[in-house]
Amino acid sequence: MKGPLLTMGLLLLTLPARADAYEEHDYILNCSGCHRMDGTGSKNVPSLLAMAELLGKPGARAYWVQVPGAAQAPLSDARLAALMNWLVERFAGSKPDPAYTAEEVNRLRSAPLRDPVARRSKIREAIVR
Ligand code: HEC
Repeated sequence: MKGPLLTMGLLLLTLPARADAYEEHDYILNCSGCHRMDGTGSKNVPSLLAMAELLGKPGARAYWVQVPGAAQAPLSDARLAALMNWLVERFAGSKPDPAYTAEEVNRLRSAPLRDPVARRSKIREAIVR
């Protein structure tokens, strides 16, 4: 009798570790304070709905991870990758293809941007590769 119960208990313990169940949670805890629950932003924080205008432009994919709010979030590379996949689909309107991986996120977040606003306007005008 103890075996199956123990196995179930261990299963339940390991379930919350699955990153894909946690994107919205991670967004609420780490991002919504500035970006709000619906992504519309707040004073001095842009609306995430404007991500749609960068979708598919060269440099946008990297920029989205390199903004300080994302790059410096207290999340593992795998959790941030899952969150970014969720975020781009939710606010830019289309799944990133290919999906962000932990390796890619690790590389990008180790080079955070000094001037995100300037980078954004360059991407918008499609001058960034
Ligand atoms: C302390 C406030 C704050 C927090 C917390 C925050 N952000 Fe931001 N975010 C900003 C600001 C301000 C900008 C505009 C660029 C800049 O100045 O950094 C921004 C820009 C962005 C952009 C760029 C959107 C675009 O198309 O220009 C993305 C993507 C983003 N944030 C994602 C996140 C994610 C994901 C989290 C949570 C892990 C997060 N942010 C947490 C303040 C915040």
